[in-house]
Formats: sequence, C-alpha cells, structure tokens
Amino acid sequence: MSQRQINITEQAAIREPPVDLSPLVSLLSTAKPVKMPAEFISATFANASTELNPIPGSKIDLDFLTRYARTLDDYEYNYTLVPYGSSFYDPFTVGATIASVTKKLKVVIALRPNTMYPTVAAKQLSTLDQLSNGRVVVHFIAGGNDAEQAREGDFLDKEGRYEREEEYIKILRRAWSSSEPFDWEGKYYTFKDFRNLVLPTNGTIPVSVGGSSDSAYRIGGSLADIFGLWGEPLKETKEQIDRIYGEAEKAGRTHRPKIWVTFRPITAETEDLAWAKAHRTLDALNRNKENGLSIRGKQPVPLGGVTPQNVGSQRLLDIAKRGDVQDRALWYPTVVATNAGGASTALVGSYETVAESILDYVDLGCELISIRGYDNLNDAIDYGRYILPRVREGIREREIAAKAKTTNATETNGTNGTKDAVVPVVAEVAPPAEVVPVPVAVA
Ligand SMILES: Cc1cc2nc3c(=O)[nH]c(=O)nc-3n(C[C@H](O)[C@H](O)[C@H](O)COP(=O)(O)O)c2cc1C
Repeated sequence: MSQRQINITEQAAIREPPVDLSPLVSLLSTAKPVKMPAEFISATFANASTELNPIPGSKIDLDFLTRYARTLDDYEYNYTLVPYGSSFYDPFTVGATIASVTKKLKVVIALRPNTMYPTVAAKQLSTLDQLSNGRVVVHFIAGGNDAEQAREGDFLDKEGRYEREEEYIKILRRAWSSSEPFDWEGKYYTFKDFRNLVLPTNGTIPVSVGGSSDSAYRIGGSLADIFGLWGEPLKETKEQIDRIYGEAEKAGRTHRPKIWVTFRPITAETEDLAWAKAHRTLDALNRNKENGLSIRGKQPVPLGGVTPQNVGSQRLLDIAKRGDVQDRALWYPTVVATNAGGASTALVGSYETVAESILDYVDLGCELISIRGYDNLNDAIDYGRYILPRVREGIREREIAAKAKTTNATETNGTNGTKDAVVPVVAEVAPPAEVVPVPVAVA
C-alpha cells in the first residue's frame, strides 16, 4: 500500500465509524489467487533531443540519462528498452549505466545476432545481469531491413536472419544453464569446449523476440519468454497473439510467451487538450521531416525504397489506410508521418481514456505495456503520475472482481464440484521458458 493510500485510510478511520470488513476479508482469503499481471516498459533516451525538438549533434548526456532512468524507477516503470541501431550508442554500456543508477528498473538490451558472437553475448548479458542483481532482459532483433543489416556486414536474407536468431537463442540458453564446458555444431555457429562461469542471477535471462512476420511468430512463439508487438487495433492484436500461442503449442511448450504491446500515448487532462496536443505533435513531426531533422540529427534516408521491408511496419501502414482512429483511441497519423519507423502508433485522449485503452489490451492478455511519448522525459513523468496508477487500479479492480467470481463459483459448485465452475479470467504468470538442456544442431 502506498504512503498516500495509508494516509487516506487513516483519515477515513478517524472520521467514520468502523466498518465490518470480515465478509470481504473471508471472501478474499478463501478465493483462489487471480493475477492479472501488467508491467510497464519505457524506452531509453540518452539526451534531451526529441522528435518534437531535435538537437542535431547531441551526444550522450550522462546527467539526462541518469535523471531519465531514475524517473522511470521512481514512478515504478518495470523495464526500459535500450534500442539498437547500426549508428546508435552501444546498448550494453548504456544499459549498465542505467542499472548502476537505478534500484528496481530492468534493462531490456536490444541485440542483433550479427553484431556479436553468441558466447560473447551470453557472458556480456550475464555479467550485466550479475552487476544489476538480475535485472536484465534481452530483446532479439532479426533485422527488418537488408540495407541496414549490410551496414554491419550482415548479408543474410530475413529468413536466414531469423533462422540464425533461433540457433543463437538456443546457444545463449545453453550457456546460461550450467558452467559445464560444451561443444556446439550448428548451421551458423560451431565452437568447442566453451565454458561460461558467469551464470545469470536468477537461473536464466528472459528472452524477448519482436516482429510480425511468420518467422517472428514461429521463433518467438516456440522459444521466447516475451513477444514484442507494435500497437495494432484490438482485433489484429488478438489475431497476432493467437498466431504466437499457436506456434508455442505446436512447439509443445507448456508456457506461452508474455505479450508486449507498444504505444506512444498523447495525453492531457481533458479530451480536447489531448487532441490539441496530438495535432501539435503531428505538425512538429511533419515540419521536422520537411526540414530533414530527426531525433538523432539528420532525417534518415529511407533504406531500400519507401515501403518498409519489415512486416510489422507494413501492417501498421495498411491499418492506417482504414482511418485515423481505431478502437477507443488508437491514432494512426503518427504512423503515416514517420512511415511506421518503429513504434509509432499513438493513443490519444484524457488520462482516463488512455488508461482505459491500455486496460482493453490487458483484458486481451497483454502483460507488458510499452509506453513512451514524443516529449520523452515530460511524457514519462506524466504517464508515471496519471496513467500507471490508473491502469494499476483498473487491474486491481479486475482482480478483486475475478476473485469474487471464483469464490462464488466455488461456493455454488455443488458438493461434488460438478455445477458450472467459473474459471479465473487470467492465468498465473508463466515462469521463464524451459532451458534447452543439450546443444542442438539447427542445420
Ligand atoms: C517492441 C519492438 C522493439 C523493437 N526494437 C528494435 C530495435 O531496437 N532495433 C531494431 O533494429 N529493430 C527493432 N525492432 C524490430 C524487430 O525486432 C524485427 O527484427 C524487425 O522489425 C523484423 O520484423 P518483421 O518480422 O515484422 O519483418 C523492434 C520490434 C518490436 C516489435
């Protein structure tokens, strides 16, 4: 219970006669536990440059990075993604810096397999995991664009990149499972007598996979602990979740990956203020594009033509053709303005509307909610003050309702439990995916 809640309860106790809470207490204590986990992810920004106000030539600003990371920690975000790009900063050193200035925030290191030999990655990730006391997640990027991959010497096609990613994940899981030496003979990697003495703090490191192509669903569904999606309408998100779960089932897994969805909320105290802000944001994005400016300085030249090669971006642009607003508040003009370059779907509305929209995805089974704005630090604070508490409260209400429903079902279920039973709405959190015990050749 937060300090604020304690104070309110104490004040209420002073003003009002005591209420008999025993029926509620007994209801909650006899009910089966029902968990509706939802955690929040932000993205890392290493300086004050934003898409709204780009600062050309800006370098890493340690004071800004520290303040940003501590803001996330203080407002109880659970993770921050440290992204990867061929010309960006190194996610490992930035991630280590974040871990060193925060207490609970987990760092999600984006990793392209072409950039690092898997045995090196296994040790770097577990070194950071030990340094941060188990606060590391790795997010795999197969690579969505051939020309971007070629910049760092990767000439495999996308199918090959996903196949290599599959072998890579298996190697990492093996390397984290014990300090016994092992050999590996696969299609993409062969090594002998590798031994990892730097094991992860909690037995393994959660593996996340992102993408929306068939290969992404297959690799992520069969191997990942977490599957990352961009912001699509509820119907399409549900379809993607079903595909991922289908792949998990096909692979014979007992646990399905947790689903991560990504939005760029534009929010304010009222609907009118939020929509005015959304249009100012869109104007700034378009103006900066015309002036050749982006968050990292110059606007990047579209690689390999105007149509993005990755399926996730293609899907966003297709959905954008159906209209500006989907569902409650999902807004697509920001997708069009940025040619669906990464996470670009906005959620526009008052704090209540945005929180309710996020809860729609929680109800769909999404457990990780990535939210980052356009005015990076200020938006992170606004979400921390107005969105996270509302969503968490909504989840708490759902948990209580689900517990009550389960208890009623138990009570009215007949002596032999044969009458209609109500199943809890959401399952328990899945433990980390099973560790692959022996090296497997992927050829
Ligand atoms: C939540 C999320 C985060 C991502 N972060 C990055 C990133 O930091 N760097 C990057 O190059 N690609 C990133 N991607 C892109 C994908 O991981 C993927 O490799 C690529 O888009 C191919 O996708 P496709 O399977 O949809 O064609 C991200 C994707 C998602 C869904």
